[in-house]
Amino acid sequence: MFGVAAAGAILELHAATHRSQRPGAAGRPPGVRCTGAGVSVPVAVVGVGNMGRHHARNYRDLCKDADLRAVVDADVNRAEEIAGPSGARAFTSIEAMLEAVPEVEAVSVAVPTSAHHEVARTLLSADKHVLVEKPIAPTVEEIDDLIGLAKERSRVLAVGHVERFNPAVRQLRRLIDDGKVGEPLSLVARRVGVMPPQVKDANVIVDLAVHDIDIFGYLLDDAEPTDLFCNAGRALAEDRFDFADIFLRYGTVDCFLQVNWLTPVKIRSLSVTGTAGYADVEYVTQRLDYYRGGAAVEPKSFAELAALSSQQPERLEFPHEEPLARELLEFLRSVRGEPAETLYAEQARETMVVAAKLVALAESHELARSG
Ligand SMILES: NC(=O)c1ccc[n+]([C@@H]2O[C@H](COP(=O)([O-])OP(=O)(O)OC[C@H]3O[C@@H](n4cnc5c(N)ncnc54)[C@H](O)[C@@H]3O)[C@@H](O)[C@H]2O)c1
Repeated sequence: MFGVAAAGAILELHAATHRSQRPGAAGRPPGVRCTGAGVSVPVAVVGVGNMGRHHARNYRDLCKDADLRAVVDADVNRAEEIAGPSGARAFTSIEAMLEAVPEVEAVSVAVPTSAHHEVARTLLSADKHVLVEKPIAPTVEEIDDLIGLAKERSRVLAVGHVERFNPAVRQLRRLIDDGKVGEPLSLVARRVGVMPPQVKDANVIVDLAVHDIDIFGYLLDDAEPTDLFCNAGRALAEDRFDFADIFLRYGTVDCFLQVNWLTPVKIRSLSVTGTAGYADVEYVTQRLDYYRGGAAVEPKSFAELAALSSQQPERLEFPHEEPLARELLEFLRSVRGEPAETLYAEQARETMVVAAKLVALAESHELARSG
């Protein structure tokens, strides 16, 4: 039985006065920008730390599609802080929320990874649609259990691989589909920076690499890697891998991925080299540069070579949006039974299968080194 507080000590922080301010009940709270266009789904967020607070903010902004009714966090102050501006009710346990706000239909889960399975299981068992933050759960057994339960209950089980909803990544996919890159030959991704203090229960492969493994799959038509290599180590953290260098081959396409919590600057990049061009994405700023290449520009002289090598990229223009807002909107569409680009648990499972294999490979290399 899941619970962060004893039933008797359940704390509901916002009562009837806030209910009347609820978006969809008496209009949205002042100052909230209301976007979206669908039928409002009553939602809740469980876990409002670094990530969950952004789920709550986006649901509040998507108030034509979502009606944020409840916020749950084991930390009373956090629950209250995040619920307050939305006119939502705050709870310190899921059971209390389920009992007090039974009309909630869909829930975002952004608790630490080690608690994903327990929390998502409780919510699915109560017939809620669930979006779990990445990674869906630490083990494939736990993931399969959740997938089975979601099927049994006919509920949506979505996973927050937010980079899929990054407009630059989606534009890159269109560029590949339009043949501008030609045949992709290699993908190179880097996701490095300093160790976030709150991540205590996941290694760098399970926490960071899953983003880019998911994107490799997205760009390569959900192909599965045919070859895997991973070297990982513990440079600063003693209890888990804090750096990993990964090689994945998908048929004829080579993918390189560097992830760590060591590099003293945050880098989130992805590039594709193909037979007809090269494209380079900066995830955070949503920048996408394209360089034409291939046989059509094969240099005939050193002068041409010099000119081509200093070619300025074409900076592609496309509408920018917050990837999380798009992810949540698609989730809400799938909850309403509308066509949606939601990333479902079955796809996230494949990413975690790859991540688990990489962890096992890294552990065996580590063992061989130490032995
Ligand atoms: N998609 C992304 O880019 C992205 C980015 C950061 C984190 N995440 C994911 O989001 C999840 C949370 O990460 P974070 O950085 O926000 O962590 P965090 O520690 O900042 O926040 C977690 C919150 O959950 C609360 N909590 C813990 N156990 C709970 C429980 N059983 N019931 C209710 N509340 C509980 C904590 O009090 C805390 O406020 C992780 O799975 C992480 O992988 C995803």
